[in-house]
Amino acid sequence: MSAIAPPTSRVWWKQPLDRVEGTWIAIAFIWCLIMFFMMPYWHVYGKQNLSNEAYRTTPEQFTAKTQAMVDKYKVREETDQKIPVVHPPAGSDVYLIARLWQWWPMLELEEGKTYRLHMASLDWLHGFSLQPENINVEVHPNYEHVITLTPTRAGTYSIICNEYCGINHHTMASRLYVVKSK
Ligand code: CUA
Repeated sequence: MSAIAPPTSRVWWKQPLDRVEGTWIAIAFIWCLIMFFMMPYWHVYGKQNLSNEAYRTTPEQFTAKTQAMVDKYKVREETDQKIPVVHPPAGSDVYLIARLWQWWPMLELEEGKTYRLHMASLDWLHGFSLQPENINVEVHPNYEHVITLTPTRAGTYSIICNEYCGINHHTMASRLYVVKSK
């Protein structure tokens, strides 16, 4: 039987299983199982996994928490949009809003300190992508995503949105500062 010509026997599915065919089915099946069990294995032992949690929230609640942090710890403003740059205490809970089409505020973290980074969208799906570290989190509305992170190298990192979110998706970029701790 060829893949191009129609089968000679119309009831082709009643033909006995060829050895080669059976072998390939077995290989594919075993490979499926390996990949399936790699998922839980990698979740526990993989180094690239984020220890993320998610909680329900609302745009109002999340905005209030973020605003409170900005009011307390703003150190300057950047860009034409006057995005506040916030330097919260080392080891604290920090908040980042995703909305059409910006990340708000900008965070300045200290090297070697562990933070709980909370993220939520105020409208619809955005994608948090931290470059060049390549850390990616889908940021949904009504959910507060929390990742525990410890920046290990000082520098300026880029945050870009990697979920298409509308006409100005490409402008939804920001920065994350990591500074040496004092
Ligand atoms: Cu937000 Cu794309």
